[in-house]
Amino acid sequence: MTHSPPLPKLSLLPESAPFTPEQRAWLDGFFAAALGLGDGSGITALSAQDGAALLADAGAAIEQDDGAPWHDQTMPLADRLKLADGRPLRRRMMAAMGQQDCGQCGYNCQDYADAIFYKKEAKLNLCVPGGKETLRTLRTLFDEFGATAAPAPAAPLAIPVQTAAAAGRSRDNPVEAVFVSRARLNKPGSAKETWHIELDLSDSGLDYVVGDCFGIFPTNDPALVEAVIKAFGAPADFPIGGRPLRQVLTEEVALGPAPDVLFQLYSYVTGGARRQKAQALASGEDPDGDVATLDVLGAIEKFAGIRPDPEAFIEALEPMQPRLFSIASSPKSNPGRVALTVDAVRYRLGKRQRLGVASTFLGERAAPGRKVNAYVQRAQHFALPPDPATAIIMIGPGTGVAPFRAFLHERMATKAPGRNWLFFGHQHSDYDFFYEDEFTGLRAAQVLTRLSLAWSRDGEQKFYVQDRMREVGRDLWAWLADGAHVYVCGDAKHMAKDVERALVDIVAQFGARKTDEAIAFVADLKKRGRYQQDVY
Ligand SMILES: Cc1cc2nc3c(=O)[nH]c(=O)nc-3n(C[C@H](O)[C@H](O)[C@H](O)COP(=O)(O)OP(=O)(O)OC[C@H]3O[C@@H](n4cnc5c(N)ncnc54)[C@H](O)[C@@H]3O)c2cc1C
Ligand SMILES: NC(=O)c1ccc[n+]([C@@H]2O[C@H](COP(=O)([O-])OP(=O)(O)OC[C@H]3O[C@@H](n4cnc5c(N)ncnc54)[C@H](OP(=O)(O)O)[C@@H]3O)[C@@H](O)[C@H]2O)c1
Repeated sequence: MTHSPPLPKLSLLPESAPFTPEQRAWLDGFFAAALGLGDGSGITALSAQDGAALLADAGAAIEQDDGAPWHDQTMPLADRLKLADGRPLRRRMMAAMGQQDCGQCGYNCQDYADAIFYKKEAKLNLCVPGGKETLRTLRTLFDEFGATAAPAPAAPLAIPVQTAAAAGRSRDNPVEAVFVSRARLNKPGSAKETWHIELDLSDSGLDYVVGDCFGIFPTNDPALVEAVIKAFGAPADFPIGGRPLRQVLTEEVALGPAPDVLFQLYSYVTGGARRQKAQALASGEDPDGDVATLDVLGAIEKFAGIRPDPEAFIEALEPMQPRLFSIASSPKSNPGRVALTVDAVRYRLGKRQRLGVASTFLGERAAPGRKVNAYVQRAQHFALPPDPATAIIMIGPGTGVAPFRAFLHERMATKAPGRNWLFFGHQHSDYDFFYEDEFTGLRAAQVLTRLSLAWSRDGEQKFYVQDRMREVGRDLWAWLADGAHVYVCGDAKHMAKDVERALVDIVAQFGARKTDEAIAFVADLKKRGRYQQDVY
């Protein structure tokens, strides 16, 4: 009788798959059975119960290991969802977020997704950078499990609880600040309209530290409100929950992009081709190629002559969301006040001039003495180094300079001995040099050790802060090697990534490292809190 040699143990899973030996054994058994490989494979199947338990753990292992590759604010939503395909639902929910970790929803992207998944947060419409696209995707994903009870988290959740926050500490519990003043930061001739804004906090009970953001609830432009009332065709004093329609439209609802639910409402109250059109718009289609121009007023005009019930109309709109602004002052040098640096958003779309709600509220409509609902959003990972002797490098083009004005004021007020280097840039040196006199004074006082400027439209070629960084890369590396902390603030979509790339190149060139080592060096700076970002 001859014996066949034992078969080598067969594994159907790649070596790199993130499973424990037990999980690997069960999964191999499962796949072997499914593929009809039989007992000869050397693989043993576990019971269904053990398998399920191991698979649940495997899910957790995948989550721990997945590194959220979709967490990139420049990646389109469809690509992010593709990367998250096959992952647990809450990871797909995270991939649907705007990926900026901007805090406008009151969470970071992962915590917001977790809060929805574990049913700690009922609102799906809080992601400002993601807008309608994110809301639509979250609704679809939520429907996958919406009716079931909240799953128990594998470990205690570390999600910040929004509703229990103290007065003025979260978007759910604002207090009143008082608008004091605005001053234009650009000189005549600039293409930009940026304002230095001051608000009084003395009666609000609010305090803050540099690095925090200030959240404000704006009101809508009265001219837009009147246009909506006129187009909608209801009396301005029509009572909605005891308040006149005009007040509700001014203070409580968003008049920006028309929500899907509004088109749904139109589809219920009309028929024929217009119903079909409204249905198509409600499901995210663009039947007439004009969806990008359809704010609430645009939607009413598109369905002119059809008038839904005013209460149902208001119900179909999104609530007014607060907007965050980086704080540009230090309470140590300006107690009881908060300063902001606000770029007024104005653009033409379709036939109308559009206004950013909050930036033009602060930049144009709020009068001195006006009370503004506001709160302080504590920065999670954006703060001066604990040791005042640590050097800092601040990179903040445009309104990104705001928190660095605050840092410099703080360092001056506390006589911090650490060196301070600011990279600022904007379009034109003649018109857009924000806080020029102040920075000149801070240079003279030797608080601002070094000021590096980049004017993007002064020359023939664009020249950005990261170009200036590369020019002075050797010195920048020397500061870094000496333990300096790096801060970046401003545009999230392009600038923040380009600046990071420049820093990697500088580390590679002047720190004599290969590119992958330089990438790891910068990643390590981030991990140690030596590279912090406040981007939007
Ligand atoms: C953490 C954080 C810090 C921030 N700090 C600052 C700061 O210090 N200073 C500052 O100015 N802002 C800052 N912002 C941005 C700020 O919160 C607002 O998003 C910004 O002021 C615009 O808000 P708004 O209400 O005026 O405009 P909205 O009414 O929200 O309109 C803005 C929207 O209009 C659309 N839009 C804008 N321009 C165009 C265009 N040309 N064509 C078509 N559509 C367009 C875009 O969809 C855009 O999202 C910060 C944001 C975050 C998250
Ligand atoms: N929708 C967009 O595409 C877009 C783009 C930028 C900013 N924003 C938003 O506009 C608001 C206000 O912006 P802001 O007033 O702070 O100024 P900003 O528009 O961010 O511009 C500040 C400076 O940064 C330059 N810049 C543009 N792209 C850059 C890049 N990839 N890397 C480095 N610098 C770059 C600009 O140059 P040039 O203008 O000459 O290119 C300008 O000199 C913010 O909310 C911001 O997020 C939106």
